[in-house]
Amino acid sequence: MKITLSAIKADVGSLAGHERPSSAMLQTVKEYVGKNGKGFIIDFNIFHTGDDISILMSHQRGKLDSKVHKLAWDAFLEATKVAKSQGLYGAGQDLLKDAFSGNVKGMGPAVAELEIEEREAEPFVFFMADKTDPGAFSLPLYLAFADPMYNPGLLLSSEMAKGFTFTIMDVMHTGADKIITLNAPEDLYDIACLLRDLETYVIEGIRARAHPEMECVAVSTTRLHNIAGTYTGKDDPIAIVRVQKQFPDSGEVLSPYVIAPFVAGDNRGSHNTPLMPVKMGETVTYFDGPAIVSAVGLSVHEGKFSEVLDLFDHPVWERVREKVSDKAIELRRQGFFGCAMLGMNELEYTGIMERLKELQKKFVVR
Ligand code: F6R
Ligand code: MG
Ligand code: MG
Repeated sequence: MKITLSAIKADVGSLAGHERPSSAMLQTVKEYVGKNGKGFIIDFNIFHTGDDISILMSHQRGKLDSKVHKLAWDAFLEATKVAKSQGLYGAGQDLLKDAFSGNVKGMGPAVAELEIEEREAEPFVFFMADKTDPGAFSLPLYLAFADPMYNPGLLLSSEMAKGFTFTIMDVMHTGADKIITLNAPEDLYDIACLLRDLETYVIEGIRARAHPEMECVAVSTTRLHNIAGTYTGKDDPIAIVRVQKQFPDSGEVLSPYVIAPFVAGDNRGSHNTPLMPVKMGETVTYFDGPAIVSAVGLSVHEGKFSEVLDLFDHPVWERVREKVSDKAIELRRQGFFGCAMLGMNELEYTGIMERLKELQKKFVVR
């Protein structure tokens, strides 16, 4: 059966600053999608990580479908009303356009979609990150799909040994989407050259070379900054990753998160922060961070979702979280200094520019 998995995510208001949507907002989104998706949404699920709400839907209308996207947009508008009525912070923050037009791409919400021919068993992982941007997924994906140190399947499975094709997007470019397609293993150095700059080049999708017709990864690549022209919060990406058989298994996809790489984000979207793997529904209450990522494991069969598994809810990840906490606290100790804060081009708030302009006037030639 051919189905589309559509994940659409937005921050439309939260409790105590930018920490978590209220229960009433989540309930509203659930009821709205349940009621208004009847007849064309086969199944759906609502998740939240940090201050973002994600709607995961299955249907048969293909990617960028206006009916599916409008359903999500309208559900977020309803949640915005609730956030406003509760006096919550940042109500409607990610809904950057006044009127819906066609699909939500370029309107604020993040989108990750896969159109797939369902396998007999179709397991996948849905990742949701908060207080960071889409480049945060690049290192774990690169390691899971191209590095035998993390993915023994590249050595042990003859199908996977053929490698994977990476579609990488230049997300700094503000006009039409600019992408490049590169093959692992032969283009590994080119892939690494691009991915080292996680603010500019982002993995958007991956396909198995043994099955080029089978997309296996979709990452949201929105740059809110590019849409709004000014700071509106970090992009807080989501990703859908099909696992097992022709693709890396769930363990191979999850294990790179043990590194908790430093990524951009955290407080005011302007710092470097380790990416902490967390349980579902986690908040961000240390310095508006650290950046967090949750992973939900589930299967889809004839468009119906199985029950979900919280993949970072395991003793090993408890230990990882302890170590990542130390990493986050240690970097924080140097405050604004050096690599603790992002470079000038990546700061999400521009107040400092005015201050520097004033200071420039006071410099004298000796
Ligand atoms: C980062 C983030 C928060 C806010 C910070 C200030 O992505 O959402 O760290 O930047 O709490 O928020 P405002 O400017 O809304 O007061
Ligand atoms: Mg967020
Ligand atoms: Mg936010």
